[in-house]
Amino acid sequence: TLAPREYKDETCDLTDAPGLGPLKPSAIATEPIAGQKPGTSGLRKPTKTFMAAPYLHNFVQATFDALKATGTDVTRGTLLLGGDGRYFNNDAIQIILKIAAANGVTRVWVGQDGLLSTPACSAIIREKGPLWQKAFGAFILTASHNPGGPNEDFGIKYNCENGGPALEALTNLIYKNTTAIGKYAMCEAFPTVDITKLGVTKVAAADGSASVTVEVISSTDVHVSLLKSIFDFEAIKALIARPDFTFVYDSMSGVQGPYAKAVFVDELGAPATSLLNATPKDDFGGGHADPNLTYAHDLVASMGLNSKGAPLDPEGNKKDAGCCLPHGAAGAAVPCFGAAADGDADRNMILGRRFFVTPSDSVAIIAAHADAIPYFSAQGGLRGVARSMPTSGALDLVAKKLGLKFFETPTGWKFFGNLMDSKALGGEDFAPFICGEESFGTGSDHIREKDGMWAVLAWLSILAHYNADHSAQFVHVEDIVRRHWKTYGRNYYSRYDYEGVDLDGANQMMDHLRAHFAEWSGATVDGFSVALADEFTYHDPVDASVSANQGIRILMADGSRVVFRLSGTGSVGATIRMYIEKYESDAAKLDQAPADALAGLVALGLKLSKLTEFTKRESPTVIT
Ligand code: G6P
Ligand code: ZN
Repeated sequence: TLAPREYKDETCDLTDAPGLGPLKPSAIATEPIAGQKPGTSGLRKPTKTFMAAPYLHNFVQATFDALKATGTDVTRGTLLLGGDGRYFNNDAIQIILKIAAANGVTRVWVGQDGLLSTPACSAIIREKGPLWQKAFGAFILTASHNPGGPNEDFGIKYNCENGGPALEALTNLIYKNTTAIGKYAMCEAFPTVDITKLGVTKVAAADGSASVTVEVISSTDVHVSLLKSIFDFEAIKALIARPDFTFVYDSMSGVQGPYAKAVFVDELGAPATSLLNATPKDDFGGGHADPNLTYAHDLVASMGLNSKGAPLDPEGNKKDAGCCLPHGAAGAAVPCFGAAADGDADRNMILGRRFFVTPSDSVAIIAAHADAIPYFSAQGGLRGVARSMPTSGALDLVAKKLGLKFFETPTGWKFFGNLMDSKALGGEDFAPFICGEESFGTGSDHIREKDGMWAVLAWLSILAHYNADHSAQFVHVEDIVRRHWKTYGRNYYSRYDYEGVDLDGANQMMDHLRAHFAEWSGATVDGFSVALADEFTYHDPVDASVSANQGIRILMADGSRVVFRLSGTGSVGATIRMYIEKYESDAAKLDQAPADALAGLVALGLKLSKLTEFTKRESPTVIT
């Protein structure tokens, strides 16, 4: 359980009192800047765009105006501030402090060194505490897995009181405000706060009439203690202590490094050599901090896999199947378990020895083993699960078998939040709750964001569960996944990404698909019997809101699908995603390479969409 923070009461009154000194707010004239519409998860643009004042200023002021208009009292409680450490992170923090103070914010928590992962922010906002000190929301400075650096991307998103990303009603209002903004407020003389050292800086008005408290807090403490309350750390520690167990965790030079050290090394006793790229860098080491088979190539290779997720050496794989080898032993080069996080640490990739776990399978397998995690067993077991529409149906099968409430939402974690909060919003209680997306996001109702560390600890819990008997043969990730397929069947799955394509071409392709829904529905096309072609619309069962245009689906009569979406997280041009899925329950056919099992559907999707014609692209930039 989390101890509330200790604070003595401070009352502040930020009015136009004379002698405010560092707290004297100035109203600075500005003009609307086009294109400040937050996407799937905040506003992401080239770093240089953000660095050109007043780009950031306008967006932050527009957010404060939206908060005030929708009834958030920013003078009470605490604003949380931090980011994934990408280039401009710390300058942005100082700018936001000045704007926040001028907008009446009296208390701010800043993550040490400016670092806070997305899941840690959600955990800190949700921490219990009296209203005057509890966080009312957070600015999270991140463009997630987009590359960072002066010539790459920066981003900002606002998370609300429930710890989740702002819902569309609020982001639409923020956007509307950016289109009409005429001034922003800023305490120009607010001092630069040293965010490298833990502790409190109190900035007082010259005449003592007001004050703003900025506390630099541990980036990791709250999140780590929450995770300790969820998982059986002793069981995981015992797994890690097995001399025949080795693992490697890649923080991809993003914000996860300090969390990885705190959890794996300090709490679970793993050797520091298990951690790769655990020092946050403002350009993520020049890499693309996205944990997938393409971008996490060093980790993927060290796990004995190629960029398609196939074993590098299938022969060797067969020979040394069975148990992992001790640290340093000959032939121990391939660890038993591997995982990675993205820039802001909400995503995860799970790898076994020479084995890739597709994210859609990962969430299904975690849900099927929820009882191996004390958080769920202590609450009488898992009750609800959800996946985004393009995520494979593997989770549906688990829900059906275990009798769980099941939901299919649009892409974007925020849609899960309402389901988790249903009871609080006057609806049914679906918690405890697990959800996941094909885009390497997995999590539960412990927070309102996906949680890269949670997913890894969930898998380590499952491994610990199967390997409690240390004298028995080691049960690998691959064994667990294959058992799962035997029980439930296998949802072959793949995603093709076409990044940075021309926006007009992408839109034309989507329109072309829309124009053929009626023709294809119920027809046999190229030997495939199409049951329905349509565009996904979500009716939120909790607040009855409707989200239209959430992806084009071509659904086959046998349950196979091809889905098309335009990404909502890019910063330049358009990214087309084509998702391909085929279900197989025949025990003799569970062992194919996904590329082979899906080849026919891929060809069908490319043909029906005329993707190459509209985009001039012959092949995808990334396959996951
Ligand atoms: C972010 C969100 C995820 C979502 C993903 C989709 O990572 O947090 O919830 O799945 O974006 O990205 P896309 O580029 O496909 O819109
Ligand atoms: Zn992320």
